[in-house]
Amino acid sequence: MIINNKQYQSIWYDDIEKKVLIIDQRLLPFEFKVIELKTLDDAHWAITDMVVRGAPLIGITAAYGLYLGAKNNNYSQKDLLLAANFLKSARPTAVNLETIINNMMEQLLQKSSDELENSAFSLAKDVEKFEVDNCSKIGDFGLPLIENVYKTKNRTVNILTHCNAGWLACGDWGTATSPIYKAHQKGISVHVWVDETRPRNQGARLTAWELEQAGVPYTVIPDNTGGHLMQHGKVDLAIVGSDRTTRNGDVANKIGTYLKALAAHDNKIPFYVALPSTTIDFAMVDGVKNIPIEERSGNEVREMECKVGHEIKSAKLMPETTPVANYAFDVTPARLVSGLITERGICKATEKDILNLFPEKK
Ligand code: MRU
Repeated sequence: MIINNKQYQSIWYDDIEKKVLIIDQRLLPFEFKVIELKTLDDAHWAITDMVVRGAPLIGITAAYGLYLGAKNNNYSQKDLLLAANFLKSARPTAVNLETIINNMMEQLLQKSSDELENSAFSLAKDVEKFEVDNCSKIGDFGLPLIENVYKTKNRTVNILTHCNAGWLACGDWGTATSPIYKAHQKGISVHVWVDETRPRNQGARLTAWELEQAGVPYTVIPDNTGGHLMQHGKVDLAIVGSDRTTRNGDVANKIGTYLKALAAHDNKIPFYVALPSTTIDFAMVDGVKNIPIEERSGNEVREMECKVGHEIKSAKLMPETTPVANYAFDVTPARLVSGLITERGICKATEKDILNLFPEKK
Protein backbone atom coordinates (compact mmCIF):
# COMPACT_ATOMS: atom_id res chain seq x y z
CA MET A 1 0.00 0.00 0.00
CA ILE A 2 1.09 3.58 -0.61
CA ILE A 3 2.14 5.74 2.35
CA ASN A 4 3.58 9.20 1.65
CA ASN A 5 3.91 8.28 -2.04
CA LYS A 6 5.97 5.18 -1.23
CA GLN A 7 4.95 1.54 -1.61
CA TYR A 8 5.08 -0.34 1.69
CA GLN A 9 4.28 -3.78 3.04
CA SER A 10 3.91 -4.40 6.77
CA ILE A 11 7.02 -6.65 6.57
CA TRP A 12 9.63 -6.89 3.85
CA TYR A 13 13.22 -7.76 3.15
CA ASP A 14 15.24 -4.80 1.95
CA ASP A 15 17.52 -6.27 -0.73
CA ILE A 16 19.83 -3.25 -0.73
CA GLU A 17 20.33 -2.89 3.01
CA LYS A 18 19.90 -6.65 3.54
CA LYS A 19 17.51 -6.12 6.45
CA VAL A 20 14.16 -7.52 7.57
CA LEU A 21 11.99 -4.46 8.15
CA ILE A 22 8.59 -3.99 9.79
CA ILE A 23 6.26 -1.13 10.60
CA ASP A 24 5.96 -0.62 14.38
CA GLN A 25 2.18 -0.99 14.72
CA ARG A 26 2.22 0.02 18.39
CA LEU A 27 2.81 3.62 17.35
CA LEU A 28 0.15 4.00 14.67
CA PRO A 29 -1.74 6.16 13.85
CA PHE A 30 0.40 8.74 15.61
CA GLU A 31 3.82 7.82 14.30
CA PHE A 32 4.94 5.87 11.23
CA LYS A 33 8.16 4.14 12.16
CA VAL A 34 10.03 1.37 10.37
CA ILE A 35 12.24 -0.87 12.50
CA GLU A 36 14.61 -3.71 11.76
CA LEU A 37 14.32 -7.25 13.08
CA LYS A 38 17.87 -8.50 13.57
CA THR A 39 17.54 -11.72 15.54
CA LEU A 40 15.29 -14.64 16.38
CA ASP A 41 14.57 -12.93 19.72
CA ASP A 42 13.55 -9.73 17.90
CA ALA A 43 11.01 -11.67 15.84
CA HIS A 44 9.61 -13.41 18.93
CA TRP A 45 9.40 -10.10 20.80
CA ALA A 46 7.73 -8.33 17.84
CA ILE A 47 5.00 -11.00 17.79
CA THR A 48 4.40 -11.20 21.56
CA ASP A 49 4.47 -7.43 22.10
CA MET A 50 2.22 -6.93 19.07
CA VAL A 51 4.68 -4.70 17.25
CA VAL A 52 3.36 -6.86 14.42
CA ARG A 53 0.01 -8.59 14.72
CA GLY A 54 -2.70 -10.16 12.59
CA ALA A 55 -2.63 -13.85 11.67
CA PRO A 56 -0.88 -13.78 8.28
CA LEU A 57 1.71 -11.21 9.40
CA ILE A 58 2.51 -13.21 12.53
CA GLY A 59 3.24 -16.18 10.25
CA ILE A 60 5.47 -14.19 7.88
CA THR A 61 7.35 -12.64 10.81
CA ALA A 62 7.94 -16.07 12.32
CA ALA A 63 9.25 -17.29 8.95
CA TYR A 64 11.79 -14.46 8.86
CA GLY A 65 12.50 -15.15 12.55
CA LEU A 66 13.59 -18.68 11.70
CA TYR A 67 15.86 -17.29 9.00
CA LEU A 68 17.32 -14.72 11.41
CA GLY A 69 17.99 -17.51 13.92
CA ALA A 70 19.81 -19.57 11.31
CA LYS A 71 21.73 -16.55 10.03
CA ASN A 72 25.40 -16.51 11.13
CA ASN A 73 24.65 -18.86 14.03
CA ASN A 74 25.89 -22.14 12.61
CA TYR A 75 22.66 -23.85 13.65
CA SER A 76 22.47 -27.59 14.18
CA GLN A 77 19.14 -29.35 13.57
CA LYS A 78 18.59 -29.28 17.34
CA ASP A 79 19.09 -25.49 17.43
CA LEU A 80 16.63 -25.19 14.58
CA LEU A 81 14.01 -27.24 16.42
CA LEU A 82 14.45 -25.12 19.55
CA ALA A 83 14.08 -21.92 17.50
CA ALA A 84 10.95 -23.26 15.79
CA ASN A 85 9.32 -24.15 19.12
CA PHE A 86 10.30 -20.79 20.59
CA LEU A 87 8.63 -18.96 17.69
CA LYS A 88 5.52 -21.12 17.86
CA SER A 89 5.11 -20.22 21.54
CA ALA A 90 4.89 -16.47 20.78
CA ARG A 91 1.09 -16.33 20.42
CA PRO A 92 -1.34 -19.26 20.61
CA THR A 93 -4.48 -18.49 18.62
CA ALA A 94 -3.42 -17.63 15.06
CA VAL A 95 -2.68 -20.99 13.45
CA ASN A 96 -0.68 -19.39 10.62
CA LEU A 97 2.32 -19.24 12.93
CA GLU A 98 2.29 -22.98 13.62
CA THR A 99 1.43 -23.99 10.05
CA ILE A 100 4.12 -21.86 8.45
CA ILE A 101 6.85 -22.90 10.88
CA ASN A 102 5.90 -26.58 10.53
CA ASN A 103 5.95 -26.32 6.73
CA MET A 104 9.36 -24.65 6.78
CA MET A 105 10.74 -27.21 9.22
CA GLU A 106 9.68 -30.10 6.98
CA GLN A 107 11.99 -28.73 4.32
CA LEU A 108 14.76 -27.38 6.52
CA LEU A 109 15.27 -30.60 8.43
CA GLN A 110 16.36 -32.18 5.15
CA LYS A 111 19.15 -29.63 4.67
CA SER A 112 22.73 -29.71 5.88
CA SER A 113 23.91 -27.07 8.39
CA ASP A 114 25.68 -25.20 5.58
CA GLU A 115 22.45 -24.84 3.63
CA LEU A 116 20.18 -23.75 6.47
CA GLU A 117 20.60 -19.98 6.31
CA ASN A 118 20.05 -19.70 2.56
CA SER A 119 17.19 -22.19 2.55
CA ALA A 120 15.43 -20.48 5.46
CA PHE A 121 15.81 -17.15 3.71
CA SER A 122 14.31 -18.31 0.44
CA LEU A 123 11.47 -20.12 2.26
CA ALA A 124 10.68 -16.95 4.27
CA LYS A 125 10.59 -14.89 1.05
CA ASP A 126 8.24 -17.50 -0.47
CA VAL A 127 5.95 -17.33 2.58
CA GLU A 128 5.79 -13.53 2.30
CA LYS A 129 4.90 -13.70 -1.39
CA PHE A 130 2.39 -16.52 -0.87
CA GLU A 131 0.49 -14.61 1.83
CA VAL A 132 0.46 -11.34 -0.12
CA ASP A 133 -0.68 -13.06 -3.34
CA ASN A 134 -3.39 -14.91 -1.43
CA CYS A 135 -4.70 -11.69 0.06
CA SER A 136 -4.92 -10.15 -3.39
CA LYS A 137 -6.87 -13.18 -4.65
CA ILE A 138 -9.21 -12.96 -1.64
CA GLY A 139 -9.95 -9.42 -2.81
CA ASP A 140 -10.73 -10.62 -6.33
CA PHE A 141 -13.12 -13.28 -5.05
CA GLY A 142 -14.75 -11.00 -2.49
CA LEU A 143 -15.22 -8.05 -4.83
CA PRO A 144 -18.43 -9.40 -6.50
CA LEU A 145 -20.13 -9.55 -3.08
CA ILE A 146 -19.76 -5.79 -2.79
CA GLU A 147 -20.39 -5.14 -6.47
CA ASN A 148 -23.70 -7.06 -6.36
CA VAL A 149 -25.00 -4.98 -3.44
CA TYR A 150 -23.94 -1.82 -5.29
CA LYS A 151 -25.74 -2.86 -8.46
CA THR A 152 -28.89 -3.95 -6.63
CA LYS A 153 -29.20 -1.02 -4.26
CA ASN A 154 -27.67 1.62 -6.51
CA ARG A 155 -26.05 3.46 -3.61
CA THR A 156 -22.99 3.38 -1.36
CA VAL A 157 -22.35 -0.07 0.11
CA ASN A 158 -21.99 -0.05 3.91
CA ILE A 159 -19.63 -2.71 5.21
CA LEU A 160 -18.92 -3.44 8.86
CA THR A 161 -15.55 -4.83 9.93
CA HIS A 162 -14.01 -5.73 13.26
CA CYS A 163 -10.42 -5.31 14.45
CA ASN A 164 -7.77 -4.91 11.76
CA ALA A 165 -7.81 -7.52 9.03
CA GLY A 166 -6.13 -5.05 6.71
CA TRP A 167 -2.79 -4.87 4.91
CA LEU A 168 -1.02 -4.13 8.18
CA ALA A 169 -2.15 -7.54 9.44
CA CYS A 170 -1.13 -9.43 6.31
CA GLY A 171 1.87 -8.00 4.50
CA ASP A 172 -0.35 -6.33 1.90
CA TRP A 173 -4.01 -5.98 0.83
CA GLY A 174 -5.49 -7.49 4.00
CA THR A 175 -8.11 -10.21 4.12
CA ALA A 176 -11.38 -8.47 5.10
CA THR A 177 -10.20 -5.20 3.56
CA SER A 178 -8.93 -6.67 0.29
CA PRO A 179 -12.39 -6.83 -1.40
CA ILE A 180 -13.04 -3.32 -0.04
CA TYR A 181 -9.83 -1.91 -1.54
CA LYS A 182 -10.55 -3.64 -4.85
CA ALA A 183 -14.12 -2.26 -4.89
CA HIS A 184 -12.87 1.24 -4.11
CA GLN A 185 -10.25 1.00 -6.86
CA LYS A 186 -12.98 -0.05 -9.27
CA GLY A 187 -14.97 3.09 -8.49
CA ILE A 188 -17.67 1.35 -6.41
CA SER A 189 -18.86 3.63 -3.64
CA VAL A 190 -18.15 1.98 -0.29
CA HIS A 191 -18.28 3.13 3.31
CA VAL A 192 -16.80 1.10 6.17
CA TRP A 193 -18.08 0.93 9.74
CA VAL A 194 -14.93 0.32 11.76
CA ASP A 195 -15.42 -1.28 15.19
CA GLU A 196 -12.96 0.41 17.55
CA THR A 197 -12.01 -3.05 18.94
CA ARG A 198 -11.30 -2.66 22.61
CA PRO A 199 -9.07 -3.23 24.43
CA ARG A 200 -6.20 -2.54 22.01
CA ASN A 201 -8.25 -0.55 19.54
CA GLN A 202 -6.87 -2.10 16.36
CA GLY A 203 -9.96 -0.84 14.51
CA ALA A 204 -9.77 2.75 15.70
CA ARG A 205 -6.00 2.93 15.47
CA LEU A 206 -5.04 0.71 12.53
CA THR A 207 -8.01 0.04 10.23
CA ALA A 208 -9.09 3.67 10.34
CA TRP A 209 -5.54 4.77 9.52
CA GLU A 210 -5.29 2.30 6.64
CA LEU A 211 -8.60 3.36 5.11
CA GLU A 212 -7.67 7.01 5.52
CA GLN A 213 -4.40 6.45 3.62
CA ALA A 214 -6.28 4.66 0.84
CA GLY A 215 -9.02 7.32 0.63
CA VAL A 216 -11.80 4.85 1.53
CA PRO A 217 -14.68 6.53 3.45
CA TYR A 218 -15.13 5.10 6.95
CA THR A 219 -16.59 5.83 10.37
CA VAL A 220 -15.18 4.49 13.65
CA ILE A 221 -17.86 3.18 16.01
CA PRO A 222 -17.72 1.98 19.61
CA ASP A 223 -17.78 -1.82 19.68
CA ASN A 224 -21.37 -2.03 20.88
CA THR A 225 -22.84 0.04 18.02
CA GLY A 226 -23.00 -2.55 15.24
CA GLY A 227 -26.26 -4.17 16.33
CA HIS A 228 -28.05 -0.84 16.33
CA LEU A 229 -26.77 0.01 12.86
CA MET A 230 -27.87 -3.38 11.55
CA GLN A 231 -31.39 -2.96 12.96
CA HIS A 232 -31.67 0.34 11.09
CA GLY A 233 -30.56 -0.94 7.68
CA LYS A 234 -27.20 0.80 7.85
CA VAL A 235 -25.06 -2.29 7.27
CA ASP A 236 -25.23 -4.19 3.95
CA LEU A 237 -22.67 -6.80 4.83
CA ALA A 238 -20.07 -7.62 7.43
CA ILE A 239 -16.60 -8.87 6.48
CA VAL A 240 -14.11 -9.91 9.15
CA GLY A 241 -10.81 -11.78 9.24
CA SER A 242 -9.84 -14.89 11.16
CA ASP A 243 -7.00 -16.17 13.29
CA ARG A 244 -7.96 -19.82 13.07
CA THR A 245 -10.84 -21.47 11.25
CA THR A 246 -11.50 -25.12 11.92
CA ARG A 247 -12.05 -27.82 9.29
CA ASN A 248 -15.81 -27.53 9.91
CA GLY A 249 -15.84 -23.72 9.55
CA ASP A 250 -15.85 -22.37 13.12
CA VAL A 251 -14.05 -19.03 13.12
CA ALA A 252 -11.78 -17.61 15.82
CA ASN A 253 -11.25 -13.90 15.41
CA LYS A 254 -10.75 -10.84 17.62
CA ILE A 255 -12.92 -10.79 20.73
CA GLY A 256 -16.33 -9.34 19.91
CA THR A 257 -16.61 -10.92 16.45
CA TYR A 258 -19.13 -13.49 17.73
CA LEU A 259 -21.49 -10.77 18.97
CA LYS A 260 -21.41 -9.10 15.55
CA ALA A 261 -22.17 -12.42 13.89
CA LEU A 262 -25.16 -12.92 16.19
CA ALA A 263 -26.47 -9.45 15.42
CA ALA A 264 -25.93 -9.99 11.68
CA HIS A 265 -27.80 -13.31 11.86
CA ASP A 266 -30.72 -11.74 13.72
CA ASN A 267 -30.93 -8.98 11.11
CA LYS A 268 -30.39 -11.26 8.08
CA ILE A 269 -27.22 -9.44 7.10
CA PRO A 270 -24.55 -11.47 5.25
CA PHE A 271 -21.59 -12.18 7.51
CA TYR A 272 -18.45 -13.17 5.60
CA VAL A 273 -15.06 -14.25 6.85
CA ALA A 274 -12.05 -13.55 4.61
CA LEU A 275 -9.03 -15.77 5.20
CA PRO A 276 -6.11 -17.45 3.46
CA SER A 277 -5.75 -21.24 3.66
CA THR A 278 -2.86 -20.79 6.12
CA THR A 279 -5.53 -19.69 8.64
CA ILE A 280 -7.49 -22.93 8.27
CA ASP A 281 -6.65 -25.55 10.86
CA PHE A 282 -7.42 -28.66 8.82
CA ALA A 283 -6.65 -30.87 11.83
CA MET A 284 -9.22 -29.31 14.15
CA VAL A 285 -12.99 -29.41 14.47
CA ASP A 286 -15.29 -27.78 17.05
CA GLY A 287 -13.68 -24.38 17.44
CA VAL A 288 -15.52 -23.35 20.61
CA LYS A 289 -14.18 -26.40 22.40
CA ASN A 290 -10.72 -26.68 20.87
CA ILE A 291 -9.28 -23.37 19.64
CA PRO A 292 -6.79 -22.03 22.19
CA ILE A 293 -7.88 -18.54 23.20
CA GLU A 294 -5.09 -16.18 24.17
CA GLU A 295 -5.52 -14.31 27.46
CA ARG A 296 -3.46 -11.15 27.64
CA SER A 297 -2.43 -8.81 30.42
CA GLY A 298 -5.27 -7.19 32.36
CA ASN A 299 -3.49 -3.85 31.99
CA GLU A 300 -4.62 -3.75 28.36
CA VAL A 301 -8.17 -3.47 29.76
CA ARG A 302 -7.37 -1.25 32.76
CA GLU A 303 -5.44 1.24 30.65
CA MET A 304 -5.84 2.97 27.33
CA GLU A 305 -3.07 4.33 25.16
CA CYS A 306 -3.66 7.92 24.08
CA LYS A 307 -1.70 10.72 22.50
CA VAL A 308 -1.15 13.46 25.04
CA GLY A 309 0.67 16.45 23.58
CA HIS A 310 3.44 14.90 21.50
CA GLU A 311 3.67 11.67 23.46
CA ILE A 312 1.79 8.37 23.35
CA LYS A 313 0.88 7.66 26.97
CA SER A 314 -1.04 5.03 28.86
CA ALA A 315 -3.99 6.46 30.78
CA LYS A 316 -5.68 4.54 33.59
CA LEU A 317 -9.39 3.81 33.12
CA MET A 318 -9.72 2.17 36.55
CA PRO A 319 -7.57 1.39 39.59
CA GLU A 320 -4.82 -1.14 38.89
CA THR A 321 -6.33 -3.52 41.44
CA THR A 322 -9.62 -3.82 39.51
CA PRO A 323 -10.22 -7.45 38.49
CA VAL A 324 -10.54 -7.69 34.72
CA ALA A 325 -10.59 -10.42 32.05
CA ASN A 326 -8.77 -10.01 28.75
CA TYR A 327 -9.65 -12.78 26.30
CA ALA A 328 -8.12 -11.73 22.99
CA PHE A 329 -10.34 -13.83 20.70
CA ASP A 330 -13.72 -15.54 20.51
CA VAL A 331 -15.18 -18.21 18.28
CA THR A 332 -18.06 -17.68 15.89
CA PRO A 333 -19.76 -21.02 15.15
CA ALA A 334 -19.92 -21.97 11.47
CA ARG A 335 -23.74 -21.75 11.45
CA LEU A 336 -23.48 -17.93 11.79
CA VAL A 337 -21.06 -17.54 8.88
CA SER A 338 -22.54 -16.81 5.43
CA GLY A 339 -19.36 -17.81 3.64
CA LEU A 340 -15.57 -18.01 3.71
CA ILE A 341 -13.69 -15.89 1.17
CA THR A 342 -10.43 -17.68 0.41
CA GLU A 343 -7.69 -17.47 -2.22
CA ARG A 344 -9.44 -20.26 -4.13
CA GLY A 345 -12.93 -18.80 -4.04
CA ILE A 346 -15.90 -18.46 -1.70
CA CYS A 347 -17.31 -21.49 0.07
CA LYS A 348 -19.85 -22.29 2.74
CA ALA A 349 -18.43 -22.69 6.25
CA THR A 350 -18.83 -26.47 6.20
CA GLU A 351 -16.26 -29.25 6.14
CA LYS A 352 -17.57 -30.52 2.79
CA ASP A 353 -17.33 -27.15 1.06
CA ILE A 354 -13.97 -26.24 2.59
CA LEU A 355 -12.52 -29.57 1.44
CA ASN A 356 -14.00 -29.11 -2.02
CA LEU A 357 -11.85 -25.99 -2.34
CA PHE A 358 -8.82 -27.67 -0.73
CA PRO A 359 -9.11 -31.33 -1.83
CA GLU A 360 -5.46 -32.01 -0.97
CA LYS A 361 -6.45 -31.70 2.73
CA LYS A 362 -9.04 -34.51 2.58
O1 MRU B 1 -4.61 -9.55 18.33
P1 MRU B 1 -4.44 -9.26 16.87
O2 MRU B 1 -4.39 -7.81 16.55
O3 MRU B 1 -3.29 -10.03 16.29
O4 MRU B 1 -5.77 -9.83 16.22
C1 MRU B 1 -5.95 -9.70 14.84
C2 MRU B 1 -7.26 -10.20 14.38
O5 MRU B 1 -8.05 -10.70 15.13
C3 MRU B 1 -7.52 -10.16 12.91
O6 MRU B 1 -8.87 -9.97 12.66
C4 MRU B 1 -7.10 -11.51 12.32
O7 MRU B 1 -5.76 -11.80 12.65
C5 MRU B 1 -7.25 -11.54 10.88
S1 MRU B 1 -5.91 -10.66 10.14
C6 MRU B 1 -6.08 -10.69 8.51
